[in-house]
Amino acid sequence: MTDQDKAIASPITEQSVNSFNDAPDVRFKQIMHSLVRHLHAFVSDVELTEAEWLEGIRFLTETGQMCDGQVRQEFILLSDTLGVSMLVDAINHRHSARATETTVFGPFYIEGMPEREYGENMALTPGDQALVRGRVVDTRGNPLGEAVLDVWQTAGNGMYSGQDSEQPFGNLRGRYRTDANGYFAIRTIVPVCYPIPTDGPVGRLLDAANRHPWRPAHLHFMIQMRGFRKLVTHLFNHDDPYLESDAVFGVKQSLQVIYEHRVAHDDVSASLGIDLPFRRACYEFVMEAE
Ligand code: BEZ
Ligand code: FE
Repeated sequence: MTDQDKAIASPITEQSVNSFNDAPDVRFKQIMHSLVRHLHAFVSDVELTEAEWLEGIRFLTETGQMCDGQVRQEFILLSDTLGVSMLVDAINHRHSARATETTVFGPFYIEGMPEREYGENMALTPGDQALVRGRVVDTRGNPLGEAVLDVWQTAGNGMYSGQDSEQPFGNLRGRYRTDANGYFAIRTIVPVCYPIPTDGPVGRLLDAANRHPWRPAHLHFMIQMRGFRKLVTHLFNHDDPYLESDAVFGVKQSLQVIYEHRVAHDDVSASLGIDLPFRRACYEFVMEAE
């Protein structure tokens, strides 16, 4: 930018920033001041053409039009693929090193899914049968009984129930509870890797960048317990080929689990009457007090 350009930009920027000076909400004012400054700096930095500005407006319009108010949320997808969701996550979860790490929520959670018993099977579609079991504890290792674990994952075709009308209601979704000693057990299928939706503007963005849309195989968790911070996270299959290149940058080393091949029962699989062989993953979630 030449000095003359800077001279054009700066009064416009100052006027726009200052137009928020009288906002009564102090936080809103802070956010708008910073947003306008950074937006203007970006426009000046790349010397945005009018055609590019219009293309940006079209892109955002289409992003909104793609949202259906239920399962499809293209703005979350955009935030995810730009790394913004993980940045917000990092800013808001820099607390106890002992607590389980968090990751993206994603757009496919559905409220009000079936309450499930300890060890109940949530898979109504085929896959490699798996038992995911473990414990929920506080940062001192005390078990948390009656914690609620909302769990969701895709079917073998890489789609979530709700997203795919062929799947039965509640498939691969459920609300489990820990027992009095903090233990939980989930019968399911081994998660598979899947592409995020590419039939909208975010798909075009990835294409233009030569980026792939794949997420490594994972199981979603949202764990809630009174008096503790809500824990939103995933467990990733440790051997997935996309761990190093997750389309939404969500992978953390501490969240990787092995689905061991089991040809013999353990106490839990025996009591649940699981057929042999099966795959088993174990994990201890550590929740942080509010
Ligand atoms: C998911 O894991 O469900 C997800 C996360 C971010 C974008 C798309 C999907
Ligand atoms: Fe997912």
